[in-house]
Amino acid sequence: MSSTPRVVVLVGSLRKESLNRRVALALPTLEAAPLQFEIAEIGNLPFYNQDLDGENAPAEWVAFRDRIKAADAVLFVTPEYNRSVPGVLKNAIDVASRPYGQNAFEGTPGAVISVSPGTVGGFGANHHLRQSLVFLNVSTMQQPEAYLGGAGGFFDADGNLSNDSTREFLAKFVQSFAEWIETNRKKKP
Ligand code: FNR
Repeated sequence: MSSTPRVVVLVGSLRKESLNRRVALALPTLEAAPLQFEIAEIGNLPFYNQDLDGENAPAEWVAFRDRIKAADAVLFVTPEYNRSVPGVLKNAIDVASRPYGQNAFEGTPGAVISVSPGTVGGFGANHHLRQSLVFLNVSTMQQPEAYLGGAGGFFDADGNLSNDSTREFLAKFVQSFAEWIETNRKKKP
């Protein structure tokens, strides 16, 4: 691989104490292949409205689209809301998918991690998200799947990921993702 791949991370929760954000922040601390993880904030993106799109699209949309286009890969770390994808994350996906014919995700290698305090580990969100990623032609890693249930107990008092088996699992996930990116990033325009 010529350089360390830049992975843009989209976190599907805006709250300060988000379990998903804590997982995302832990990724660079794992002993795994080097990937450069950068969280792209999505809470500032105006709701997608086709009337606003085109040459004078909101600056936040333009910057976000450019960031996805420049990424070597995209990683979604998301909670499940009502068995589906939180609206804030769906909005970010919709913004980057447009204008028609200019899908910023086209051909980008991707992966999904869902995190929940519940036992099902966000399976519903994870798979609803994959439905959109098929349409957007994100080359989404299939294995290993990452449904992190019981996540309320993963962290120490400072919010650091301290659960050994979760760290070990995520290190393997990151290693597989690095290999997936190497194989698939040539498909990105
Ligand atoms: C939830 N939560 C939730 N959890 C789950 O496992 N399945 C679900 O369908 C839902 N639905 C849901 C809807 C809404 C509107 C909220 C606010 C929450 C609980 C959710 O997993 C929990 O609040 C997580 O802690 C949210 O992720 P962050 O913010 O900690 O990253």
